[in-house]
Amino acid sequence: MRIGGGRARVRFWAASRKQTCRRGRGAADSRAVTFKPEFIARVIERRAELQRALTALLPTPRAIVWEVGCGHGHFLVRYASEHPEKFCVGVDIIMDRLERGEKKRDRAQLQNCHFMRAEAREFFNALPPHVTFEEVWVLFPDPWPKARHNKNRLLKADFFNAIASRAVPGAKFFFRTDHEEYFREVEQTMAGLETWQRDPAAAWPLEQETVFQARAPKYFSLVALRTASPAPTVELVGPGQPPLTIPTSPA
Ligand SMILES: C[S@@+](CC[C@H](N)C(=O)[O-])C[C@H]1O[C@@H](n2cnc3c(N)ncnc32)[C@H](O)[C@@H]1O
Repeated sequence: MRIGGGRARVRFWAASRKQTCRRGRGAADSRAVTFKPEFIARVIERRAELQRALTALLPTPRAIVWEVGCGHGHFLVRYASEHPEKFCVGVDIIMDRLERGEKKRDRAQLQNCHFMRAEAREFFNALPPHVTFEEVWVLFPDPWPKARHNKNRLLKADFFNAIASRAVPGAKFFFRTDHEEYFREVEQTMAGLETWQRDPAAAWPLEQETVFQARAPKYFSLVALRTASPAPTVELVGPGQPPLTIPTSPA
């Protein structure tokens, strides 16, 4: 199954702004951001479409393996074929990468491997409440190397706490990158979290080269386990996106 039809390569997730919304927490973050009504309408429709697709894909309680930014699907297809008992879902924002993943999946005749065009945080928010994570994989995420773009990195404390809120006891998080500075940042973030604990002794369960791994002269890997600590409630909304509850009139 795939959602978000059309082959447009435009940044389907990008913002245009007009309507005013309060974003973020705390004084430093409480800038008013405005979004154009047509952008808000697109976001509402996209979120609803994702919810419909996910409800159809996952109608009953289930723990899934989620790969964020699955690219061309090399990893997920192989992982799903080696673990027929696991239900694997890969998301990416680039359609033709997903289509390549789907071709691999179809050639392997896998029933337990699905791809969706979705932004990671929107996918997370659209999941039916009965869906949990047994594993979350993030392989070679976009590193956003410039300091002013650091806020665009996905792997921040809010992301880890959010996924913890849906992770089954003993759930695992797998991260690999060739960007050492991003890796150190994630290590540091993780060390300050109560919801996840790095497991330096954990084995990497499957070595399968991805497109970006093949280009990397070296890379760094991290495995973390969900702890027993309760997860704080987090509103996971990406940069440049309106809050989950969108006001109907300008503030
Ligand atoms: C550097 S590539 C790595 C792809 C693949 N994991 C690999 O190792 O070859 C990062 C991937 O993440 C996707 N991506 C970036 N930001 C994303 C987001 N917020 N949500 C979902 N996918 C995202 C990109 O489209 C891209 O395919």
